[in-house]
Amino acid sequence: MADFLSPAVNFIGKGTLSEIGPRAKMFGSRALLVTDKVLSGISGGPVDQVKQHLDKAGVSYAIYNGVAPNPRDLNIAEGKKIYQDEKCNLLLSIGGGSPHDCAKGIGISLTHPGDLYEDYAGIEKLTNALPPLLCVNTTAGTGSEVTRHCVVTNTKKKVKFVIVSWRNLPMVSINDPELMIAKPAGLTAATGMDALTHAVECYITLAANSITDALSLQSIKLISDNLRRAVAYGEDIEAREAMAYASVMAGMAFNNAGLGYVHAMAHQLGGLLDLAHGVANAVLLPHVERWNLMVNPEKFAQIAVAMGECTCGLGKMKAAELAITAIERLSKDVGIPSGLASLGVKESDLRPMSITALQDGNAGCNPRKGNEDDIVELFKAAM
Ligand SMILES: [Fe+2]
Repeated sequence: MADFLSPAVNFIGKGTLSEIGPRAKMFGSRALLVTDKVLSGISGGPVDQVKQHLDKAGVSYAIYNGVAPNPRDLNIAEGKKIYQDEKCNLLLSIGGGSPHDCAKGIGISLTHPGDLYEDYAGIEKLTNALPPLLCVNTTAGTGSEVTRHCVVTNTKKKVKFVIVSWRNLPMVSINDPELMIAKPAGLTAATGMDALTHAVECYITLAANSITDALSLQSIKLISDNLRRAVAYGEDIEAREAMAYASVMAGMAFNNAGLGYVHAMAHQLGGLLDLAHGVANAVLLPHVERWNLMVNPEKFAQIAVAMGECTCGLGKMKAAELAITAIERLSKDVGIPSGLASLGVKESDLRPMSITALQDGNAGCNPRKGNEDDIVELFKAAM
């Protein structure tokens, strides 16, 4: 048995941004645009383009452009106030994962009393309808524009927490690769490796099913075939479009079958040290999956094939190990740092992060069960 959740409508491909005006008009008359200062500061960039489409459709707007990477509870409070003061009636996020997560958090805080972390962290704790949310995505990575996950940093406790609910699902997602071509190589690499981590973790998760398997495996193939191209030449629209599809497919997969220890651990690196999510995932991914390998070598062998490895004539463990080397090679080729120590992580951070990693909502989906010492060892291996 499986259920399958997705936004109501998903637009993917060149030129699909033009859908935002008419679609927004279907859901409200005044939008709060949720974005960051970098995107809102680009003349003629994605935010300006969205504004033009809204003007044409007769939808007015206010803007909150204070979203930080690894969005914080404070960002949600700021955005909520503007939404109320400006009498908005729909949310429209523009950016990568952070604005989408922040917009989901704003929607939750507008409609639910109490504290987001204390009262709603976890799975399916939301009880009320949220304002309609439309997401315009500008990076191929997080998949937040198609998921029910709202990931937020608790600034007092310095941990990331996840609010998972079908009520967070956007009404509309737009992935137009023309908004992604100007992205720098480092951001392209980090977000692309985040998408790969979604696909790999989801493919071997305990809740995987035939639909999520198909999405995950095709996503892995597309990323393996196109991420190097998108990093090497950012204007390669074909590679950008393939990465947009890969990101959406991986997002739809993990939206329904979950993730694992890589994300559970990476969230602690984001919460404690504010490390970029995709980089943290990319560094951890080969180490965690090498540890997971014994649980399902057949599926790891399929990952290896999807990444272009030849497994002919190999025993299943040897074939499975090729998935790990293929991940490491891709990570190196796109310029991901080799270890956590080079990113400023200290040995003294590892034990506290291991404790909170096991409490993260993604830990329960990992196919191999570990204890605190196991997680410490995985962090050490990634140092
Ligand atoms: Fe992620």
